Amino acid sequence: MLWGSRFDKEPDELFARFNNSFHFDWRLYDADIRGSIAYAKALARAEIISEFEANEIERGLNLVRKEFSRGEFISTPHDEDIHTAVERRLFELIGEPAHKLHTGRSRNDQVATDTRLYVMDAIARTDSAIRHLLSAICQQAEQHLDTLLPGYTHVRRAQPISFAHYLLSFFWMLQRDRERFADAQKRASVLPLGSGALAGNPFSIDREFLARELGFERVSENSLDAVSDRDFITEFLFAASFVQIHLARLAEDFIYYSAPEFGFIEMNDAYTTGSSLMPQKKNPDALELVRGKTGRVIGDLNTLLVVVKGAPSTYNKDFQEDKEPLFDAADTLEMTLPIVTGVIQTMRVNADKMRAALDESMLATDLAEYLVRRGVPFRQAHHIVGGLVKLVETRDAKLSALPLEDFRAASDKFDADVYAVFDFDASVKARNVFGGTGAVREQLELAKVSLSRVE
Ligand code: ARG
Repeated sequence: MLWGSRFDKEPDELFARFNNSFHFDWRLYDADIRGSIAYAKALARAEIISEFEANEIERGLNLVRKEFSRGEFISTPHDEDIHTAVERRLFELIGEPAHKLHTGRSRNDQVATDTRLYVMDAIARTDSAIRHLLSAICQQAEQHLDTLLPGYTHVRRAQPISFAHYLLSFFWMLQRDRERFADAQKRASVLPLGSGALAGNPFSIDREFLARELGFERVSENSLDAVSDRDFITEFLFAASFVQIHLARLAEDFIYYSAPEFGFIEMNDAYTTGSSLMPQKKNPDALELVRGKTGRVIGDLNTLLVVVKGAPSTYNKDFQEDKEPLFDAADTLEMTLPIVTGVIQTMRVNADKMRAALDESMLATDLAEYLVRRGVPFRQAHHIVGGLVKLVETRDAKLSALPLEDFRAASDKFDADVYAVFDFDASVKARNVFGGTGAVREQLELAKVSLSRVE
């Protein structure tokens, strides 16, 4: 044990299990070892340990890392957490220099450093997974620039849109998520090491050197804040929750778009499951799980918010509760993102079903716009077309089948060219304002450009 000498007895067995975090924070081993190698170098530069001792520590830590990466590390019940476990093993491997490593350092600045390194790596991995998904979205969009389907509001058919336009709506949601992660990265990339337990390091440790060695952009300005700041994890969890929320909304759409009642898309067998009872079923379990995991990740965010709330200044053991939600959210994203990518890459798009779902009433707005172009105030045009919609409903007919007299009875601004309005492709093309469904080619080019820019 690292701290036993002032105690008369060993911790209660149940409490020891309660207190120990090795069973989950062993995952910080790489970050912990990187941090310790850099710290040993800094101690040598400050002439607190010799060059030889620093080299021994580095050699030993590399051996410990190898044990972890090969799954050969053997923990003992006394390994309270990853930091104590690594130091214990290091001493077994290299002897005394291991006991000099913790000079001026506390597990408080150590764990904060390790967790930041972990978050920085997790952000890089997540960003790359999002980029894969975005490129799958672009590839599908490219195939379906001219595939039309109903655009929905309130789950009611509203106006015709291009399927590419629909798909790209998710591109921009996820692009914002990338921005959120990039922004979180700026605040994660701050080195706490050198803050000691709370008051700072007394051994002239070169913190700028440590930051450079470990890839941090800058060093923390206040040691009290540095050992207790968990904002960077919270921000990661917030950005992760947002990714999940976006994926859940996509999943929700795709689940009903792939239902036989819609039939717009068909999910590949690789991402669906059968029913144990009903032989005909093909269930969208992959996407349902994506939707369900969203609750889990939001729960992770909530956990940390509540853990940090009310913790008094500087480090408190409460903060040990930060790691499981972090790992859980990072692991979840590492599964859901590639799965959604796979679903999008392999789905079959049924363009005919999409087009068949377009109905003429979705052009009622276009009809009102026809009148507007002939000088009728929009509110009045809306009223006139509303009357025509009601008329065809009572006759169980279609707007395009109304005789010209009926149009002209509603407004003398209608002419024979009114029938040209009943063209879904023309309706989509007309909405060619920047950001509109008619400008989807331009939008796809923009999407590809923003994807090729590496943040
Ligand atoms: N396992 C602890 C954590 O995750 C490490 C820091 C412990 N520091 C302390 N003073 N008890 O927070």
